[in-house]
Amino acid sequence: MGRSVAVIGAGNTGKVLALALKKQGYKIAAAFSRTPASREAAAEMLCCPVFKNPTEAAGGADIVLLTTPDSVIEEVCNEIAAGGGFHSGQVVLHTSGAHSSTILHSAREQGVRVLSLHPLQTFPEVEAGLRSLKGTYFTMEGDEGAARMAAEMVEAMGGETIAIPTEMKPLYHAAACVACNYLVALLDAALKMFQCAGVPPGKAMEALLPIMNCTLYNVKELGTEKALTGPIARGDISTVKSHLQSMEEHIPELLPLYKHLGLQTVELASGKAGPGTELQKMKDLLGGI
Ligand SMILES: NC(=O)c1ccc[n+]([C@@H]2O[C@H](COP(=O)([O-])OP(=O)(O)OC[C@H]3O[C@@H](n4cnc5c(N)ncnc54)[C@H](OP(=O)(O)O)[C@@H]3O)[C@@H](O)[C@H]2O)c1
Repeated sequence: MGRSVAVIGAGNTGKVLALALKKQGYKIAAAFSRTPASREAAAEMLCCPVFKNPTEAAGGADIVLLTTPDSVIEEVCNEIAAGGGFHSGQVVLHTSGAHSSTILHSAREQGVRVLSLHPLQTFPEVEAGLRSLKGTYFTMEGDEGAARMAAEMVEAMGGETIAIPTEMKPLYHAAACVACNYLVALLDAALKMFQCAGVPPGKAMEALLPIMNCTLYNVKELGTEKALTGPIARGDISTVKSHLQSMEEHIPELLPLYKHLGLQTVELASGKAGPGTELQKMKDLLGGI
């Protein structure tokens, strides 16, 4: 029998990881959830005792997965530590992208090895989450002994690991937000511009998705520099001028976004073409925010 796991916060992430680990021979020893309905659902899905007290759930397991919302991880960890629910030899993990392992200080003080293990994935519900695990990257920071155990778990689930220094966790999470949340905000801006330009609302998303999918594919195949096309990469000043004029007239609220991202695009283009006069002119044009 493999190592035993306690799931403290049997919501989407907790259940996905527990079920995936169970399939690989880990024993789901116990779980905790806050509300009665959630405890009932967890008991049915995980087939393990589900407690209304996190300390009772954590006590008997080799690995404690703290998968509550970010805002209460530290508080729940403190509660378990105060109740004597941790013992040396255990590994305690949380799955937040935003926080480092330092919020598990009360567990560490009890001789427990701690780690943050962030799945770079989205788990809107359990079935879809389980399907998405293969190939998912998990970012680890914290105690070395805990990282070794977590790497075995991730490998068993078909995932990959990256390790980062503790102090870089906020920067790492900012990058993940840029890649995921800002991509959504960017698409929303493009949809608003399409609407303003008279593209029928029912067609706008449909029309943008093929070019976005193809761009992602090109980035994957060629890297960001080579995948870059368009007027900035070509040094086409007059086209960019016409964009700025039209946006000023029709949708000025999105002009700062266009200019900021345009400047970032000039940086990328200068890596491709080498610093040139046209790009400097482009920078000046976009720099007037
Ligand atoms: N979901 C994702 O896509 C995803 C991806 C990567 C990382 N994460 C991380 O995984 C962790 C869990 O996120 P999730 O989306 O899986 O959350 P979730 O589905 O909302 O589940 C949260 C769990 O914690 C319990 N809980 C809620 N409030 C609590 C409180 N005040 N005190 C104690 N327990 C409480 C919930 O119980 P009830 O059900 O009874 O409320 C539930 O068991 C977070 O750190 C998140 O950042 C999530």
